[in-house]
Amino acid sequence: MSEIIVSTPVTEDIAVLFDKHGLARKTVVLFDENTRKLIGNQILDSLDRQGFIWKELVIPARETSKSFRTAMKLYTEMIEAHVDRGWNLLAVGGGVVGDLGGFVAASFYRGIPVIQLPTTLLAMTDSAIGGKVAINHPLGKNLIGFFHMPQLVLIDPAWLNTLPEREIYAGMAEVVKYGFIADRQFLSYLDEHFDEIVAVKDPYVTYAIRTSAMIKADVVEKDFKEESGLRATLNFGHTFGHGLEKLADYRHIRHGEAVALGMVCALILSEMLGTITEEELQQGLNVLSRFKFRKGLVEKHFKVHPAQKILESMHSDKKKVDSALRFVLLDGLGKAFLHRETLDDELITGAIEKAKTFC
Ligand SMILES: NC(=O)c1ccc[n+]([C@@H]2O[C@H](COP(=O)([O-])OP(=O)(O)OC[C@H]3O[C@@H](n4cnc5c(N)ncnc54)[C@H](O)[C@@H]3O)[C@@H](O)[C@H]2O)c1
Ligand SMILES: [Zn+2]
Repeated sequence: MSEIIVSTPVTEDIAVLFDKHGLARKTVVLFDENTRKLIGNQILDSLDRQGFIWKELVIPARETSKSFRTAMKLYTEMIEAHVDRGWNLLAVGGGVVGDLGGFVAASFYRGIPVIQLPTTLLAMTDSAIGGKVAINHPLGKNLIGFFHMPQLVLIDPAWLNTLPEREIYAGMAEVVKYGFIADRQFLSYLDEHFDEIVAVKDPYVTYAIRTSAMIKADVVEKDFKEESGLRATLNFGHTFGHGLEKLADYRHIRHGEAVALGMVCALILSEMLGTITEEELQQGLNVLSRFKFRKGLVEKHFKVHPAQKILESMHSDKKKVDSALRFVLLDGLGKAFLHRETLDDELITGAIEKAKTFC
C-alpha cells in the first residue's frame, strides 16, 4: 500500500521519503496552470534545495486535459528531456492532474513510479488514493486507464486555503460519504465540525482528511480490483449522482454536488427498504442539509427533472452491459452494502421525488 503523509509543509523532507521508498531524485513534476501558479515555485525550490533533478510540465486546468492528446504531448516532452525508466512522476493538483499524471506514469516506459501531491479536498480524500488512474474517452469518462498505485501520497492541508469554496464543498461530499459507509463516529464528528472543516480550520480539516484517506486506503487494500463488492461501496450516492451529472452534461454540476444530492436519494431509499431507521434517516439528512450550492443549482439540475428522466439518465450512464442498476445502501449509519437485487422503478423514482422535497 502507498504510504500516506498528511503534514505542513509536506515537501520539507521529501528527499528522505524518496530515499525510504527507493525513489530516485529524478522527477517529472506535473502541474495544472493553477497549481503551477499557486505552489509551483514553493515545490520546485524545495526540490532544488534537496538535490533533485526535475522536469516541469504544465497542463490546462480542465477536465478535457484527461485525453490521449494531452498524454501524448507529455510523453513527447518527457522523451525530449531524456526522462527514462530511472525517473518518477510527481502529480501536483486535483483529480485531473492526478488521474492524467498517474496514467502517463503507468504507461511511460511501461511504467514509472507516481507520487501523488493532491491539492483539492476531493483529491486529498479520494482520487489520489487507491491507484485508479485514467483518461476520458469521447464515449465515457475514465474509460481508459490502469491500476497504478502511488508510491507515496503527500498531503498538505494548507494548500486548501486557496481552493474556491465550491470545490471545498464538492470534496466534502466524499468526506461525508466515508462517514456514512464506514464510520458512524466520524459522521457525528463531521456533523459537529462541518463549518470548521469547510473553513479549512485546523485541527478539524486535517483530522477529516486523515480519517477519510485512511478509510479509502483500507477499503482499497481489502478489495483492490473491485471484486468483492466492498470497493463498490465507495459509490454510495453515486448511482443517483451520475444520473444528475449526465443530465447536466458533466459541466454544470460538480461531481461532489451531484453525489451530495445522490446521497439524499440513497439515504431515503435505504429507509424505504428498511435498512436504516427513520431516526437514522433524519440524522443523515441533517448532515447533508449543511451543503451549500450555487443559487438555483438544485432547482435547475435536480428538482426540475421528472424522477423518471433522472432514472433514465442513471441507466444510460451505466458502463456495465447488464441492464439492472446497482445501488449502495446503508445498513445503519456507518455501514454500507451493495444491493445486488433489481429494485422496482417505482421505488427508485419514489426516493427521488421524496429527496426533492427535502433539498
Ligand atoms: N482516480 C480516482 O479514483 C478518482 C476518484 C474521484 C474523482 N476522480 C477524477 O478527479 C477529477 C476531479 O478532480 P477535482 O475535483 O480535484 O478537480 P480538478 O483537478 O479539476 O480541480 C478543480 C479546480 O481546482 C483547481 N485547484 C487545484 N488545487 C487548487 C488549490 N490548492 N487552490 C486553488 N485551486 C486549485 C484546479 O486547477 C481546478 O481548476 C475528475 O476527472 C474525476 O474523474 C478520480
Ligand atoms: Zn465520487
